[in-house]
Amino acid sequence: MERLVSAAEVRSATGEARREGKTIALVPTMGALHDGHLSLVRAACERADYVAVSVFVNPTQFGPGEDFEAYPRDMDGDMELLRAEGVDLVFTPTAGAMYAPDAQVTVDPGPLGQVFEGAARPTHFRGVCTVVTKLFAIAQPDLAYFGEKDYQQLAIVRLMVRDLDLPVRIVGCPIVREPDGLAMSSRNVYLSAEERRAATVLYRALCEARDIASAREADAEIIASEMASTVGTEPLVELDYAAVIDPETFRPLDLFGAKPARALIAARVGRTRLIDNIALEVG
Ligand code: PAJ
Repeated sequence: MERLVSAAEVRSATGEARREGKTIALVPTMGALHDGHLSLVRAACERADYVAVSVFVNPTQFGPGEDFEAYPRDMDGDMELLRAEGVDLVFTPTAGAMYAPDAQVTVDPGPLGQVFEGAARPTHFRGVCTVVTKLFAIAQPDLAYFGEKDYQQLAIVRLMVRDLDLPVRIVGCPIVREPDGLAMSSRNVYLSAEERRAATVLYRALCEARDIASAREADAEIIASEMASTVGTEPLVELDYAAVIDPETFRPLDLFGAKPARALIAARVGRTRLIDNIALEVG
């Protein structure tokens, strides 16, 4: 496994793999790796001949007052995990190498970048789209792996690839959870023991939504308010949004059944913001 810090080195390493006829996969991450990240790495290793993982805490996707400085970092641990998975290349650029001091061109995520997570974090998806475009331009992968955990991010990246004709296939992977249902996240380390216990209410609310939907017991708005009232039973958790949406447009759905639907949830647990989601299917 090679660890490279410059874009030019990465481009030449993946270029060589391409000339050898290898299929190249990229797994973009911000590090502090857990089993959720590793599930993407494993899926990539199964399908591609050459797997590159980027570990970069991207400053441009954090807003002022967010947790960029505090974001967990564990480069040595990450390298060990990635080596054990049989990854070929790890790209660990510095912020200074990724962004020129006077960098000014960015990738606009469009209207989907303004709702839900984008409403809570107005510049977040611009930063994500910009860094993901740069990573694609540097590694030039055939395939890129993203988790459904960040469902809106996955949808925006798919749209970006379509709308900008980027020559990469996006592969979405299911959410990996802790045994009690909490979606794995690098940010879970911020939670106190009490908050960690309280945080399980998010998955409980999503499961309820799934069960109500599959029994066709209620329309979308009622499901969303059921989720909100479940979260409301947990005093340590402050709901940001609970919604039932069309998984492509993210428009709130009225009735479902004809189309696939997704339940989204976001909440603050203490100072930590958590997001999660689940597929809804009429039974
Ligand atoms: P990060 O939060 O490190 O996540 C990297 C990838 O792992 C994302 O595609 C995310 O959806 C996926 N992931 C995280 N937790 C997961 C879980 N529990 N189950 C399945 N997949 C999970 O998302 C980012 O970094 C950044 O925005 C990035 C795309 C790297 C751009 O900077």
